[in-house]
Amino acid sequence: MGIPRSWGGILRGLSAFCAIAQAQTSSPSPTSSHSAQFTVPAEANIAPAVIPNIKDPQAVDAQTVCPGYTASNVQQTASGFTASLSLAGDACNVYGTDIEALSLTVEYQRADRLHVAIVPTHIGAENATQYLIPQGYLAEPEVEEPNVVSDLEFSWTNDPSFGFEVTRKSTKDVLFSTKGTRIVFENQFVEFKSALPKNYNLYGLGESVHGFRLGNNYTKTYYAADAGATVDINVYGAHPFFLETRYFTEDADGNLKLVESYEATAKSNYTSLSHGVFSRNAHGQDILMQEDSITYRAIGGSVDLYFFPGPSQPEVTKSYLTTVGLPAMQQYWTFGFHQCRWGYTSWAELEDVVNNHTHFDIPLETIWTDIDWMVRYRDFENNPVGFDDESSKGFIQRLHDGGRHYVPIIDSAIYIPNPSNPDDAYPVFERGNDTGAFLTNPDGSLYVGAVWPGYTVFPDWLAEGTEQWWIDEMVRYYQITGYDGAWIDMSEISSFCVGSCGSNNLTLQPVHVPFALPGEPANPVLIYPEGFNKTNATEAASASAARASWSSAYPTSSATASTSYVRTTPTPDVRDVNYPPYAINNVKGALAVGAISPNATHADGTLEYDVHNLWGHGILKATYNALSAISPDARPFILGRSTFAGSGSYAAHWGGDNWSNWPSMILSIPQALSMSLLGIPMFGVDTCGFADNTDMELCNRWMQLSAFFPFYRNHNILGAISQEAYRWSSVIDASKAAMAIRYQLLPYMYTLFYHAHKKGETVMRALAWEFPRNPSLANADRQFMLGPSILVIPVLEQGATSVNGVFPGLIEGEEVWYDWYNNTAVPVPAQANTTINAPLGHIPVYARGGSVFPLQQSALTTRDARNSPWDILVALDKDGSATGNLYLDDGVSVTPNATLHAEFKVENRKLETLIEHGGWVEENNLRNVTIWGVEKANTPIKFNGKAVPPKNVHFDGDKNTLVVSGFDVSAWAGKRWSLEW
Ligand SMILES: *[C@@H]1O[C@H](CO)[C@@H](O)[C@H](O)[C@H]1NC(C)=O
Ligand SMILES: *[C@@H]1O[C@H](CO)[C@@H](O)[C@H](O)[C@H]1NC(C)=O
Ligand SMILES: *[C@@H]1O[C@H](CO)[C@@H](O)[C@H](O)[C@H]1NC(C)=O
Repeated sequence: MGIPRSWGGILRGLSAFCAIAQAQTSSPSPTSSHSAQFTVPAEANIAPAVIPNIKDPQAVDAQTVCPGYTASNVQQTASGFTASLSLAGDACNVYGTDIEALSLTVEYQRADRLHVAIVPTHIGAENATQYLIPQGYLAEPEVEEPNVVSDLEFSWTNDPSFGFEVTRKSTKDVLFSTKGTRIVFENQFVEFKSALPKNYNLYGLGESVHGFRLGNNYTKTYYAADAGATVDINVYGAHPFFLETRYFTEDADGNLKLVESYEATAKSNYTSLSHGVFSRNAHGQDILMQEDSITYRAIGGSVDLYFFPGPSQPEVTKSYLTTVGLPAMQQYWTFGFHQCRWGYTSWAELEDVVNNHTHFDIPLETIWTDIDWMVRYRDFENNPVGFDDESSKGFIQRLHDGGRHYVPIIDSAIYIPNPSNPDDAYPVFERGNDTGAFLTNPDGSLYVGAVWPGYTVFPDWLAEGTEQWWIDEMVRYYQITGYDGAWIDMSEISSFCVGSCGSNNLTLQPVHVPFALPGEPANPVLIYPEGFNKTNATEAASASAARASWSSAYPTSSATASTSYVRTTPTPDVRDVNYPPYAINNVKGALAVGAISPNATHADGTLEYDVHNLWGHGILKATYNALSAISPDARPFILGRSTFAGSGSYAAHWGGDNWSNWPSMILSIPQALSMSLLGIPMFGVDTCGFADNTDMELCNRWMQLSAFFPFYRNHNILGAISQEAYRWSSVIDASKAAMAIRYQLLPYMYTLFYHAHKKGETVMRALAWEFPRNPSLANADRQFMLGPSILVIPVLEQGATSVNGVFPGLIEGEEVWYDWYNNTAVPVPAQANTTINAPLGHIPVYARGGSVFPLQQSALTTRDARNSPWDILVALDKDGSATGNLYLDDGVSVTPNATLHAEFKVENRKLETLIEHGGWVEENNLRNVTIWGVEKANTPIKFNGKAVPPKNVHFDGDKNTLVVSGFDVSAWAGKRWSLEW
């Protein structure tokens, strides 16, 4: 892709200094930079450095030293079989203590799901979470169809040690095979390895900031980390699921032959078969994608694999999402445009931002606040300066009257008051502490880390009363400020110090975070995007000079790179959770850096080590229940940062702290496609970029690109130049142009989302999924589809005025693509790299022939857009056919009591609309039916068999466009209507 592997920038929470220092809980010392407030010393977030195993020249390859297992005692069950596995030789104890006896379970759970589990035979209550995900945390897939016939076949061997294979019966294709490798199962290390074909096409394994096709030289690490949306590292979420697609040639007898190198024959018409693999393991882990294999190495948990046969991507996705949880249905308004920044200082300023959008005629649905709204960053307490309780009521009322919404950030960590200061009361903490809602140290004392408010405690989602306490706090705050959704941040769960650093320092509260905030003295100087210097030379020069002087004053991690590392060796039957013998490739080094420590303890004795990747899922579930308590009938709207497999059934997600630069914008496309596969279709990134300064050109392109992502929000860091769309006249025009299309398409997008929620379909789609017979699209991630029918080919390069794109289709004329702006079919050869004119302010958007779009009119809010007349747009395919559908309800209710479904079908010059009435009464007129691709209109045009008056028919023979008008609301009332031409 030509993207730098990573690029610089300093983010909130990003202080990955991994030097050799012994500091664990050193006392804070006063610093001069922040007046009287104590600052947590930077050393508090430094731990002895570790060298990741995959980078360690001394590392032992477990495959070469471990004995593997032998299977015996096979017992048939109703849905498969069980067997015993015993160690096949002397224990290797390579990164832990080998477990002698394991139990294998093979279950055909459904026709589309095979489960393979290997767990220790002897699990007690006290060590269960070392191996198994705590009950109730996640969906636990079970046998749903006993005695089912599956196209997957499980086979195994003991030669040379236990290994298994999963084969697609119908094609005899081996999908997953550990044969010839060793399964390693220790108390702190689980490894298994499968062969893969050369040049495999693997997708998913999120959360990743990486190209769409993962490639065969990439290690995906899971350890939830607040490290910015940085390329190739472990970031916020863990979704150990992949989709693999294989392309085959087919001979006359239907025999398939795997294509291992397809690039030379890109235009051939291949058979493509996809399958999926979900590893239900929440422990820290590395997944190594190598030339012809994939290796899973986890620091705990079990082998808990689910295989989905597909054989198409939509089938795999549906199987996966019905296993971990279908995406939450979103309220209609959430598809409007959202504006946010860190640095809005008052309700009045928020209202100004809203009014400015109106003034410039830019749609705006929701105004957001970052941590500015809180008093000293304490959850659920408005800052009396600027965000006082009383004014919030009028502010929210006026927003709602205007059809708009308000969403505040809510942080994961809870301030712990200064015990020596009676004025430092924080009832939110007191109530939680009374409930036993917070994590502890192994000795039972509160675990006290450091986040925005100073020293903080952390909710324990495994403690019985925590969820109810959280619900109560959210309800209580709602009664003060009636917010419309919740934005959950810092949920990895992050802490700016190693260990319980505040335990002995609470009398210093409130303390300052261990780094300067943007806008404070010594803060990082913000830079501008690439290319900024070409048009803004003077400003760019002064910014880069300031940056250079800042950089030399504040060395970053690379300047303090370590030469000695902690390497631990296993102690029999004792786990070292702070420094596990196998060091995963954690971007922060030791597991305790930048996050609460692995030995933080949950109420049931579970260590954070075993559930770290699930913390973010826990808070999303609790928040979902809190919003449900506030408005029992409404779909909760939650934007969550740290997610796990299944979190999409509670929350939306954004790409986290990205940068105001071009690579961040480019990578937003593969991020979104990956999130589609992982069941979080409500995804978008901080448009115009979060960290550093944006500029006009980048913001112009990005506001247009994000308009075609399901979640569409502009967000900015404290101290950076303002980047609301109205700051530049060209960005106003560009945003309005793209938003006009988005808002027209809202019924289409909402319908797509409904299908995602009901059936596990995707909303944003890769070209490879829509055109599966075409391997040249296997890695296409610079353009994408919104649903099956909209193709977007954005400009992603600074200074460009055109973009090279591909119009999918195997042969000339197979697919028809209509330019959204001029309504005509694009005269291009299929699959050829095509240069598309795209000056600044223009985003190329195409409708796929064969589609029917229900459209409404653009407006400043989705409420007003929903109250506008309908247009039906038909884009005919090469045969003059098209299909489409529409779903409507109140846009709010969890269980809508009134719905409407419409199916559109065009064949032989006739559009037929079938309407299924579920009680929804559509009150807006049908205004026009527009048909693209009509070469000749027969007269008379007939509506329901009756001639349409010529004054209501307009045919443009140059553009091959037919527009019929003169309908009214009655078009929605009957069970069907038709139009013939
Ligand atoms: C788990 O705990 C049980 C009960 O103490 C013990 O018998 C067993 O050996 C432990 N198993 C593992 C694999 O650690
Ligand atoms: C694999 O990636 C590493 C790190 O990016 C790189 O140094 C190495 O050359 C790559 N190997 C191959 C075979 O491309
Ligand atoms: C590709 O192959 C499929 C299956 O044989 C066939 O249905 C389709 O028409 C072919 N497409 C082209 C463009 O040859």
